[in-house]
Amino acid sequence: MLTEITAARDAALVEIEVADALDHIAALTTRLAGKKGELSLLKRQLGSLDTVEAKKAAGQAINEAIAAVGEALDQRRRLLTMEMLAARVEAERLDLTEFVGKPSRGHAHLVTQAWERLEDVFIGLGFRVAEGPEVETDWHNFEALNMGEGHPARGEFDTLFVDHVPPGGKPGTTLLRTHTSPVQIRTMLNSEPPIYIVAPGRVFRRDTPDATHMPVFHQIEGLVVDRGITMADLAGTIEAFTKAFFGSGFTSRLRPSYFPFTEPSAEFDIQRPNGDWIELGGCGMVHPNVLRAGGIDPEEWSGFAFGFGIDRMAKERHGVEDIREMYTNDIRFLEQF
Ligand code: DAH
Repeated sequence: MLTEITAARDAALVEIEVADALDHIAALTTRLAGKKGELSLLKRQLGSLDTVEAKKAAGQAINEAIAAVGEALDQRRRLLTMEMLAARVEAERLDLTEFVGKPSRGHAHLVTQAWERLEDVFIGLGFRVAEGPEVETDWHNFEALNMGEGHPARGEFDTLFVDHVPPGGKPGTTLLRTHTSPVQIRTMLNSEPPIYIVAPGRVFRRDTPDATHMPVFHQIEGLVVDRGITMADLAGTIEAFTKAFFGSGFTSRLRPSYFPFTEPSAEFDIQRPNGDWIELGGCGMVHPNVLRAGGIDPEEWSGFAFGFGIDRMAKERHGVEDIREMYTNDIRFLEQF
């Protein structure tokens, strides 16, 4: 009997050892360790043994065999469960390194790039960056710039007015600035000459968008006020800027023009290395009335100013056909710059 018990136990342990699935273990549990299992059947035969000693020895051997088989089943079940979980985790893992195409990295918008480079170049020429509000008073935007009420030049700016009425003020005198020139006035009122500033910023006009116009666009303003400033300083600064910003193959020229806030006034163009001229902006010697509005004595100080469109310059520089393309946010357009 003891031999049979040992043989049954060893056979059971081998079967358990090679079981490779949990349902296999479940079946083995019933067959080997259940009430009708081989070892249980042997237990029922104990009564046929002759001596008490023999019964005792065989009973003990069976109990030990049942315990060993139970233990082996438990161990095998734990191992297979762990393997199954590991396999499932592996199968369900998302491989985040595996996606199609190159990851694309964003960058600043074309106009932002131009704006930042303009600041860099002018800071390199000794200027400081100044700011003003986008919602302005009629006084800063027009009046102080030598465009009094009824001045014909006001009509050229398709002004967007704001409902706001300032305390003690008149209706219709608050507006979205039509140019960056009011920053000239604010800077003169806030600081003492010598003044060397540029003021990039957003400006607004009541325009219908087309290939060359947007109701919201960007300008950069320049203002210098110092002793003995002349038109030669203006021309020299424009030329130095042209070479620093566009490259040494570019030059600039001034053409006589008219602006209410400068006298004399000019328009400035830049010439590409291939000989083409591009109109860039306006400039001139700051009008004495404008200096006075800024609290500066025109007998003691003189200055020059200039202003041009950042979007327009970027459009010309990169040969963009339609300025609206810059604001439709089509990634295929934006990625080119
Ligand atoms: N403010 C003008 C405009 O929006 C541009 C301009 C012209 C600015 C001459 C200036 C200047 O400072 O001197 O059309």
